[in-house]
Amino acid sequence: MTQPGESILIVDFGSQVTQLIARRVREAGVYSEIAPFSMAAEAFARMKPGGVILSGSPASVLEEGSPRAPQEIFDSGLPILGICYGQQVMMQQLGGTVTLGDSGEFGRAFIEIEDSCVLFDGLWAEGETHQVWMSHGDKVTELAPGFRSVATSPGSPFAVVADDKRRYYATQFHMEVVHTPDGAKLLANFVRHVCGLKGDWTMAEFRQAKIDEIRKQVGKGRVICGLSGGVDSAVAAVLIHEAIGEQLTCVFVDHGLMRSGEADQVVSLFRGHYNIPLVHVNAETLFLNGLAGVTDPEAKRKFIGKTFIDVFEEEARKIGGAEFLAQGTLYPDVIESVSFTGGPSVTIKSHHNVGGLPERMNMKLVEPLRELFKDEVRALGRELGLPDVFVGRHPFPGPGLAIRIPGEVTKERCDILRKADAVYLEEIRNAGLYDAIWQAFAVLLPVKTVGVMGDFRTYDSVCGLRAVTSTDGMTADIYPFDASFLSRVATRIVNEVKGVNRVVYDYTSKPPGTIEWE
Ligand code: XMP
Repeated sequence: MTQPGESILIVDFGSQVTQLIARRVREAGVYSEIAPFSMAAEAFARMKPGGVILSGSPASVLEEGSPRAPQEIFDSGLPILGICYGQQVMMQQLGGTVTLGDSGEFGRAFIEIEDSCVLFDGLWAEGETHQVWMSHGDKVTELAPGFRSVATSPGSPFAVVADDKRRYYATQFHMEVVHTPDGAKLLANFVRHVCGLKGDWTMAEFRQAKIDEIRKQVGKGRVICGLSGGVDSAVAAVLIHEAIGEQLTCVFVDHGLMRSGEADQVVSLFRGHYNIPLVHVNAETLFLNGLAGVTDPEAKRKFIGKTFIDVFEEEARKIGGAEFLAQGTLYPDVIESVSFTGGPSVTIKSHHNVGGLPERMNMKLVEPLRELFKDEVRALGRELGLPDVFVGRHPFPGPGLAIRIPGEVTKERCDILRKADAVYLEEIRNAGLYDAIWQAFAVLLPVKTVGVMGDFRTYDSVCGLRAVTSTDGMTADIYPFDASFLSRVATRIVNEVKGVNRVVYDYTSKPPGTIEWE
């Protein structure tokens, strides 16, 4: 277990990117926990961290009732790093001045380094200019006693400030996002050089910490876990099984919208390899009947989500119910589907593994992967001994092939798509490109075009190919295949898959596109 003093407490004031701070700290080899500001004092006492980071926030320190950091943290003598709102709250609480911004800085900005600072070790030197990412309206206009300014930007006179004696540092910009290219190194400098932490924390410790947490949460209760066929729910299930053994039952609702061979793989992995109790429900007919005539993407998602819950609930009832529901929810699922602060953020798509089930079934949630990103879940999966082919699999959405068949979903169209997708993925694997791609899949368009094969006219569907690179699914870039690769895949699909006579490649990044077509 993590030793006292070897961890970082992140005090969360509600920023959308707080989880990224935790991730960067983990990347620096240090265990961290996020505590909402209202529970931070308690977490601080329990964890005995080696340093504290104060997050950003949608709030303004100038608003009445806006959040503050617990005084105990300032009294402790430990190093503190404030980021954005974290900087402002630090200045406000320590005697500086924050002023309402009339314009603010949003997006890319450039800061000028004015002085040396331990955060810049091995990175930045006086007189240099560096790119960072800003997102603030208010700004600090007077430093608290003891601080000096070490970097400045056109919109923030105090872009980075330091009080070396107390080991307090703060930045107006967000060092946790990738748009601050050196951000991860700045954070690593804080945890290693300022806090003096060793940085030898590993996924093995995360596994143990989560196992302890699951045992504590669940006690002697029963847990049901819905398997989707994807990596996330599989890793969650194996982890929970390791924690509580037979108290866990997995339910795999096979909606008939899986890729070729996928359902069999899940069943054999769980029953054969792990011997984890698994209920396998074949509900293809139910789902396809219900999808008949449905063409609107959100209507498809809603129907699949609701029907999934119906079937799941029915199975849960058959096995005698449970108090807990386990889900393989990851961090990007959480922020894309609901606003972290509970505020009115825009729903882009209704992701089907978040919400819905727990409210209706009145069960408590066990979500051990909630703060992780996909690559971290994979690392945990490997740590748990899941086979590489399974762990390395590209993500697959809960609503399955239904959202890769714009227009009406039928069994026939699912079968066509499964074949085209299998050819595409086989070629990707043969070319040794599978692991370099975040997600690759075929889509079947509701458009027919004319072709000629042999001496005959054809009039068949168009198949779209998608392949993207990404680190978390939240932004993505297209994978730049060679033209020769794409033409090989196109030829094979048109020749081998009856019902397709034209293949196109999707060149849209996210944003402005999304990864899935619906
Ligand atoms: P989009 O299409 O929103 O997808 O750019 C981002 C990532 O999320 C996956 N995805 C889903 N995963 N349930 C899931 O578990 C869903 O309803 C869902 N919709 C999209 C998508 O495959 C990509 O990896």
